[in-house]
Amino acid sequence: MYRDLKKILITKEEIDKRIKELAAELDKDYAGKRPLMVAILKGSVMFYADLLRAMTIPLELDFMCISSYGNKTKSSGEIKLIKDLDFSIEGRHLVIVEDIVDSGYTLSYLKRMLYSRHPESVKICTLLDKFECRETPLQPDYKGFDIGNEFVVGYGLDYAEKYRNLPEIGILKEEIYS
Ligand code: IMP
Ligand code: MG
Repeated sequence: MYRDLKKILITKEEIDKRIKELAAELDKDYAGKRPLMVAILKGSVMFYADLLRAMTIPLELDFMCISSYGNKTKSSGEIKLIKDLDFSIEGRHLVIVEDIVDSGYTLSYLKRMLYSRHPESVKICTLLDKFECRETPLQPDYKGFDIGNEFVVGYGLDYAEKYRNLPEIGILKEEIYS
């Protein structure tokens, strides 16, 4: 898999360190609120597992699976709900845990959908933010790293379902997807 990378963008150590900082921030902001931590499958699994283990406050887990990409590298703007939450979210504090925000279409859609179920709050925690690529007003509330307009894989992120199990985040060579 490493042969397909142009370079490693974020190392394991850098990810670990930043996750500890994010977890401390969430611990503080959500103390006494028992947040419902929502993983957006599948890209956020590694981040979600590491982030939640680093948090020390009581919280609950739930999972949602949406698809917006197919095997392409650009957002289609079309989002399909593949698996919904198990819990009712009325009156709950939700933290959506996502791998990456790009155009922002996926999370804008998701936030609108979730707010229609009357939660107390919905915040977004993303590992990566491609802020230059935003096509919507959506802003994450918590983020690990800002990155440029490059296609990245690893630590949960895929290209055509591959590379998710790389422990670090790397930039994929353009010839792989062009
Ligand atoms: P958005 O709707 O354009 O914000 O797209 C967000 C989704 O696109 C993410 O949840 C990822 O699944 C996918 N995505 C965007 N950029 C990348 C990338 O560089 N690598 C892997 N997946 C990406
Ligand atoms: Mg995703």
